[in-house]
Amino acid sequence: MKIEKPKGTRDFYPQDMAWQNYITDAWRRVSIRHGFEEVDGPIFEKLDLYKVKSGDGIVSELFSFRRENGTTDFALRPEFTPTLARMVADKANSLPKPVKWFTIPNLCRAERPQRGRLREFLQWNVDLLGLEGELADAETILVAVDFLRELGVTPEHVRVKISHRDVVRNILIKLGVAEENILDAFNLLDRRDKMEVEDFEKAAMKLGLDEHRVQRFQEACRSRYRTGSLGSLCKAIGMPEEDVKELQELDDKLHALGIAEWCEYDLGIVRGLAYYTGVVYEIHESSGAERALAGGGRYDNLINLFGGPKMPAVGFGMGDVVLSNLLRDKGLIPENVAPRPDVYVIAVSDAGSEKVLPLIADLRAKGLHARFSYKTTKNMGRLLKEAVGSKAKFACILDDAEATAQVKNLDTQEQVEVGIDEIAKYLHENL
Ligand code: HAM
Repeated sequence: MKIEKPKGTRDFYPQDMAWQNYITDAWRRVSIRHGFEEVDGPIFEKLDLYKVKSGDGIVSELFSFRRENGTTDFALRPEFTPTLARMVADKANSLPKPVKWFTIPNLCRAERPQRGRLREFLQWNVDLLGLEGELADAETILVAVDFLRELGVTPEHVRVKISHRDVVRNILIKLGVAEENILDAFNLLDRRDKMEVEDFEKAAMKLGLDEHRVQRFQEACRSRYRTGSLGSLCKAIGMPEEDVKELQELDDKLHALGIAEWCEYDLGIVRGLAYYTGVVYEIHESSGAERALAGGGRYDNLINLFGGPKMPAVGFGMGDVVLSNLLRDKGLIPENVAPRPDVYVIAVSDAGSEKVLPLIADLRAKGLHARFSYKTTKNMGRLLKEAVGSKAKFACILDDAEATAQVKNLDTQEQVEVGIDEIAKYLHENL
């Protein structure tokens, strides 16, 4: 009987897993050097956790379930932020501040599978809580940029698009959207790239905008401003500079951290999740053709909402699927991401064969990634080909010599004779 895997999920064969590890290793390495500590939570939560403040979009995509005869509804995690907020709220008094956490959960969303969108994916989360001021926002952006830079991405490949929910709210209110319709207007803005223009206009009119104002609204959303040019942004939207104070602070920090050239202001960014409170940002491929590579922002009320103290919070999530598409499209996939064996042991005589297993056991016990041939051939050419094929750094050739072996560096072709008992030491010194 053949049973297909669920749609929108992936199997990870060794090559796929090596690629996945290449990404997650880099996520971990970069998070740690920026001072973030790794955390995790349950793969499923009580359904209510997501109903509180994630917003209708995500709730409609939940994989939720109830046990037979059970009374509690659960859901597979579609995002990590509610879990993180619950965890911080639980131990808020004893946690050292600021809280700087990262995590790499697999998440499930019942979305229609398409390019960049699956039903199970990995998402790197970086969050900074308990620190007042815009340095926190800037530091999370720095981590994302530093990661992308490390993998070869440049400011020409991607843009960090920054916005502020209060600034967009002010524009909307000035245009005539009622306060109680603001969240709906944010959701509409967030979905506008996925909608036909007429549908967008119709929905905007329902929120109280006439045709002329929809136009102005569209214009405001379409304008892009470089960092360092918030003055022109204010002029264009007719807003006093006082109203973009937080963006100005952030702008200064982005310059101080040397990442301003990666960033721009884009008031069309509002984010679909309901808990964001201030600065919001997304990282997009420069042409804007793909869905966002990462998204995040401030959620200053969420810890309090989950029973903790009032605490400033900001962070982002970056998905592995969109990231892989970007790296593939830009030719940034290294040739070999699987771990290379340190040594490949081959025997070219009967006497040599007898020494293979004890040597392999010794090398592995001493921490070396050692492989050997399962073939019975003694043909040196074929065995060396196998060693090269495995991408091993060294080949160790066992022949009739009683106490020594030939150790060949497969990158430089240099070959030396080494005492059998000394091979592990030699490799450790020369790897
Ligand atoms: P989000 O915008 O829902 O934010 O997701 C962030 C990123 O996760 C997206 O930009 C995308 O790369 C990836 N992603 C989302 N859904 C899918 C999917 N179905 N398939 C593949 N990739 C996907 C959040 O989840 C927030 N909780 C992030 C956050 C952390 N905000 C503050 N801290």
